[in-house]
Amino acid sequence: MNETISNYPLFSEATSEDCVIERMDGAPNARLRTIMESVVRHLHAIVKETELTSEEWFAAIQFLTRTGHMSNEWRQEFILLSDTLGISMLVDAINHRNGGVATDSTVLGPFHVSGAPQYANGANICLDGKGEPLLVAGTVRDETGKPIANAQLDVWQANEDGFYDVQQKGIQPDFNLRGLFRTDAEGKFWFRSVKPKAYPIPADGPVGDMLAALGRHPYRPAHIHFIVSAEGHQAVTTHLFDPDCAWLNSDAVFGVKPTLVADVQRIDDAEAARAAEIANPFSKIEWDFVLLREPG
Ligand code: BEZ
Ligand code: FE
Repeated sequence: MNETISNYPLFSEATSEDCVIERMDGAPNARLRTIMESVVRHLHAIVKETELTSEEWFAAIQFLTRTGHMSNEWRQEFILLSDTLGISMLVDAINHRNGGVATDSTVLGPFHVSGAPQYANGANICLDGKGEPLLVAGTVRDETGKPIANAQLDVWQANEDGFYDVQQKGIQPDFNLRGLFRTDAEGKFWFRSVKPKAYPIPADGPVGDMLAALGRHPYRPAHIHFIVSAEGHQAVTTHLFDPDCAWLNSDAVFGVKPTLVADVQRIDDAEAARAAEIANPFSKIEWDFVLLREPG
């Protein structure tokens, strides 16, 4: 055998992953090497386990190519892919183990926008006038139950038709159903909105095709998004879910946690409605968020 070749493991069906992994021995970044070794081992295992055909591998490459072409400033098809395969929620679970004492986190999703308007408590974030009136009120606390003053709540939700403002530029007012609020000296916040509606995640691209090919629906149960943050505390990215939504048990992105399902009260009280400057009857969610202290 040729001396030069015999110094290297020969690539074969049996040795394929070891051959690739050995080439990474000189990687200066140890963490990258660990991750890439795992990626290579698992990818090779998939190919071997399923005895992938050349046509199937080419279809996978075309799928990923379309996923890249579909992505732009407003549409991140790779996030949708990560979300629908449960990867986003798995990464979140591993990185936000909160010991059950703080508000649970869930998926961020692709529709968060920085720079939403800052509102005073009580403001109405619904700018298109559509939907059933909803009052959301509560307190932000630390893990000992102490209220946190000046905490920030970054809120966003889809409109009555199931679209975010950024999906309907020129149709919905800019920053419709988005806002930043601050808790008062007693840690309290309150704002007016409309009851959230279930909606399909964008399904007109390769991820939608994948869901259809797998017999899966694209719906997310009705929810309101929050990022709650406060100085000296760990921020939480989370949702409140409508308990009555039909899609609660089959969220397309696996974001539902029982601890995030709100209690929606139905209130028919003209006096209370007048005090909150909301139409009667209305719905109300009372909810406290709990933040962990920053470690150290
Ligand atoms: C959302 O809730 O906004 C969302 C999350 C994941 C994928 C698509 C949308
Ligand atoms: Fe959403």
